[in-house]
Order: sequence, then C-alpha cells, then structure tokens
Amino acid sequence: MAIERTLSIIKPNAVAKDAIGAILGRFEAAGLRIVAARMMHLSREQASAFYAVHQERPFFGELVDFMTSGPVMVQVLEGEGAIAKNREIMGATNPAEAAPGTIRADFADSFTENAAHGSDAPETAAEEIAFFFPEGVCERTR
Ligand code: PPS
Repeated sequence: MAIERTLSIIKPNAVAKDAIGAILGRFEAAGLRIVAARMMHLSREQASAFYAVHQERPFFGELVDFMTSGPVMVQVLEGEGAIAKNREIMGATNPAEAAPGTIRADFADSFTENAAHGSDAPETAAEEIAFFFPEGVCERTR
C-alpha cells in the first residue's frame, strides 16, 4: 500500500478533556507518524472556509460554533494507507455508530462534538494539509 499523508484535527471537546496525548498515541501505535503539528484557536473565518463544502447543510452554524469554541490540535499523519487507517482509528462520523475502541467511541460527546476530523480522500487530504500548513511539511527520515 502507498505511503500517504492525511490531515487530522483533534477537536475542541477532546482538547478540553486533555485527550491530545492519548489520541496522538493511538495514531503512533497504529504506525501513523506525525510529520507536522499545530495547536490553534480557529477564527470563524477559518472554520467556515475549512468546512465550506458543508455551508448549505443545516448543521453548518453549529459546526462552526463548535470548532471555534476552543483550541484544536491539527496534525499531518503519514503512513501506509494513512487516509483510511486514520478514519478506521477515528470510527464513524456519528459516534453512536462508532466501533468500540475508536477515538469517537471513546471521546465524542455528540454528532457535532465528535472529537476528531480526518481527510476522506487523497485530493481533500492535499487541500486540507495545504490549508493548515501552507509552508509545507517536513520530511521525516527517522
Ligand atoms: S456527511 O453527512 O456524510 O456529509 O458527513 P461528512 O462528510 O462525513 O462530514 C460532515 C461533517 O460535519 C460534521 N457535523 C455533522 N454531520 C452530520 N450531521 C450533523 N448534525 C453534524 N454536525 C456536525 C461532522 O462531524 C463532519 O465533520 P468532520 O470534521 O468532517 O468529521
């Protein structure tokens, strides 16, 4: 399987639970290496731009309110099949459907406050990585 990169966000509710270390540990234990990371408090402009694809959906306002309610931890994960692997570790978007042991099963509070985001395809991964890390991402050789 090809080495991929994917964009991951630990959302405000999981940051508030002091679960950053636990979640990053799950990625590393699964063979996903952290090649960039940035803690930030998104502005409404940034959150709206990041989720622009959902702007006509009924939950958009609630999603932007939540994503700007506190700091997030944004990282780029690299590894074999990283996009699918990250989504497997996160579990289903709706935490009620997330498999036991996944990040959303363990740290989500609701459909909106679902603890983590992960890119869903190579094209969106590239766009999302460039959105948060326009300066580029380091090469890890070890
Ligand atoms: S969908 O419904 O298939 O388009 O969902 P998806 O593309 O996976 O992501 C939707 C993102 O919006 C967040 N969100 C909600 N989705 C559906 N219903 C409600 N009520 C809702 N509230 C928020 C959802 O968590 C997804 O966020 P990300 O960060 O992309 O996982």
